[in-house]
Amino acid sequence: MSPQRKLLRVSPSRISLIQTPTPLHRLNRLSKLLNLDLWIKRDDLTGLALGGNKGRKLEYLMASVLAERADIVVTCGASQSNFIRQLGAACAMEGVRCAAAIMSMPYDEVRPNSISRMGYRGNLVLDQILGIELHPFTDGTWDELYAHAENIALAYETQGLKTYRIPIGGSSALGAYAFYEASKEITEPFDTIVFASSSGSTQTGLAHGFRGTGTRVLGIACDPEPEIAQDFAELSLELSREILGDTPLCASDYDLDFNYVGPGYGIPSAAGNAALELMARTEGIFLDPIYSAKAFSAVIDLAQKGSLTGKVLFWHTGGVPALFV
Ligand SMILES: Cc1ncc(COP(=O)(O)O)c(C=O)c1O
Repeated sequence: MSPQRKLLRVSPSRISLIQTPTPLHRLNRLSKLLNLDLWIKRDDLTGLALGGNKGRKLEYLMASVLAERADIVVTCGASQSNFIRQLGAACAMEGVRCAAAIMSMPYDEVRPNSISRMGYRGNLVLDQILGIELHPFTDGTWDELYAHAENIALAYETQGLKTYRIPIGGSSALGAYAFYEASKEITEPFDTIVFASSSGSTQTGLAHGFRGTGTRVLGIACDPEPEIAQDFAELSLELSREILGDTPLCASDYDLDFNYVGPGYGIPSAAGNAALELMARTEGIFLDPIYSAKAFSAVIDLAQKGSLTGKVLFWHTGGVPALFV
């Protein structure tokens, strides 16, 4: 069964920033290899600033930024954030300033050289070209980073700028709504949809969209903390209350698999790297080492164990600039 249109509490405004619907096609060679009917949804080809899942969220978030007549948008993330890159491009297109609090990684202790990642590589090169006002901080907890972002926002307000705050990864009700809408691009039935999950709006939107359809919405966690399921539930509550008017999901409603994080958030895993090469060498498609490759390593492993069968959709969420870090 495909997702149905429901009556919304409010109908969020959207501006056009990306190419949708994104392509959906079968992976014939991998299907044979993994003994699955495996398909791919190409959100790596959304088209905004080298693509990725964040473009969908930004169509709604930027509509809200423009409605508020904001002078500047403030967000935060890891230094290789794909969201910050795409937000910077969307802001450039709309003539809005973009600022971000960044830190190298929150798991510095497991990678002693991580400070070198503050050098300009991967997404950071693109952030610089886009003119994003980057505020780098030394590694700490996510809560510390959120506090830095709030201080930056307050400082811009002191300068008299109308400041719009966007949470990490664009995971607000509007960000999740974008993926609720994205679920309607899937018009044929799948047994399982698999994708990388981190700040939660991709999974929350898809989980609401496919509710009651019999399609399993399986997020592969790229963060090791099991508490993220609780954050996702809070996001679901926001989405239900502010937009959808349906019953929110609770933490246990989320199908989140934490077995493929590897050494930590933002750190490539051996299985992910092998999955990345297999996808490229079998189908000619690039994954990213931090999100989509880990999610695809789960597809391979679960298929080999017989825990993933039937018609499966791998939702490619983008992130390819991280290959150049
Ligand atoms: C390439 C890529 N895939 C997946 C995700 C996870 O999406 P979400 O933050 O909506 O859970 C992200 C976001 O951090 C990402 O950059």
